[in-house]
Amino acid sequence: MASKSFILLLLALLFVTCGCGTAEPQVPAIYVFGDSTMDVGNNNYLGTDAVKANFPHNGIDYPHSKPTGRFSNAYNGADFVAMNMGFKQSPPPFLALKPKHKYPDIYSGRVGANFASAGTGILDSTGNTINMAKQIEYFGSFQLCVIRRIKIERAKYLLSKSIFLISAGGNDIFDFFVQNPNATKPQVNQFLGGMISNYTSHFEALYNLGARKFAIINVPPIGCCPRSRTLPQNLDGSCVEALNNLAKAFNKATPAILNNLSSKLVGLKYSIGSSYDVVNTIITHPQAFGYEEVKSACCGIGRFHAEQPCNATAFYCKDRRTHVFWDVLHPTNKTAEIAGLAFYEGSVKYASPINFKQLVDEGVLPLENL
Ligand SMILES: *[C@@H]1O[C@H](CO)[C@@H](O)[C@H](O)[C@H]1NC(C)=O
Ligand SMILES: *[C@@H]1O[C@H](CO)[C@@H](O)[C@H](O)[C@H]1NC(C)=O
Ligand SMILES: *[C@@H]1O[C@H](CO)[C@@H](O)[C@H](O)[C@H]1NC(C)=O
Ligand SMILES: *[C@@H]1O[C@H](CO)[C@@H](O)[C@H](O)[C@H]1NC(C)=O
Ligand SMILES: *[C@@H]1O[C@H](CO)[C@@H](O)[C@H](O)[C@H]1NC(C)=O
Repeated sequence: MASKSFILLLLALLFVTCGCGTAEPQVPAIYVFGDSTMDVGNNNYLGTDAVKANFPHNGIDYPHSKPTGRFSNAYNGADFVAMNMGFKQSPPPFLALKPKHKYPDIYSGRVGANFASAGTGILDSTGNTINMAKQIEYFGSFQLCVIRRIKIERAKYLLSKSIFLISAGGNDIFDFFVQNPNATKPQVNQFLGGMISNYTSHFEALYNLGARKFAIINVPPIGCCPRSRTLPQNLDGSCVEALNNLAKAFNKATPAILNNLSSKLVGLKYSIGSSYDVVNTIITHPQAFGYEEVKSACCGIGRFHAEQPCNATAFYCKDRRTHVFWDVLHPTNKTAEIAGLAFYEGSVKYASPINFKQLVDEGVLPLENL
């Protein structure tokens, strides 16, 4: 059951216009990593085998109806986290930051950059795009450029106050499930063990590069996305519980990973936003948020508008605010907005052990300890 106050908070949200963008940035920069829930256009720069969204009807509600590469009708989760922290939207895709001299603020450790790539996962083997290990490598080379422009102490100080926003894991779980529909308990445990050890390594690598404040988004109930409802073994189109159970099992391990790391890595702070609980609250109380459709995608083709992906000739719904899902997998702008607010100032059900706002406000260690 969602708490009543949370629903009231969200109802209030739906009737205010976003004051986002008018405030001053609350942190020096945001660095974003992960999959299509975070990608704001890196995949536009990749070859034809990469999954992309830089064509209509994507972006239909973005300024000038521009398809930017986001898997959304307008903004995505990276944008709403950034807006809540006082930015206009997500920092730009890293692959767009050329030539460097045109982005003096960014290469001085301000604003941030978005390294996320749709299709990617926590495991190196997931997807064929820029995997997490590569995203972290890109961040390392980015940071070397910053250090060439500003003093290293200053660069480290800015990093220690910056937010490292990460959302990944859904694609690994989806792939594992599709390849092992009847996985045994030991197979599941082996898979989860690999995920945990790889996720741990990614956090350590970022920490070693100077990251201190981690804002992590967990795996949503992927068994309830339109694509899962169309899986061949799912005849009645209900949520695929086996997929949700994998997501829940991995989500249960994530706080343990971070709790373990924070006792070992001095100055590490974190907040885990529960995309699982936000989407679950929404799909169990859709009317409270003004939704009319929780199963079908707004844009796409076939059953649940999810047998073929959204493209320029696919069906799309007239009122995007009545749909939880934009396409086969991804939330609408409105759903991402609600999630962003819940992570930023929601209760421990939606962000723990502290929320993103408290993470922003956490003090950092004095310079000499960096
Ligand atoms: C998984 O189990 C179901 C029956 O529970 C069976 O119909 C299906 O063929 C199995 N799939 C694989 C890939 O073994
Ligand atoms: C990821 O896990 C696999 C096996 O579980 C391991 O071989 C690989 O080295 C790990 N990669 C990282 C970056 O930890
Ligand atoms: C956390 O640390 C404990 C104690 O070292 C260990 O048993 C456990 O497996 C670790 N959990 C994770 C998810 O890393
Ligand atoms: C959209 O996808 C459908 C089905 O995959 C395809 O038949 C159609 O040609 C695509 N439209 C465009 C504009 O690519
Ligand atoms: C998308 O989000 C922006 C920012 O909050 C908002 O101004 C706009 O009305 C939203 N559009 C839709 C269709 O949800």
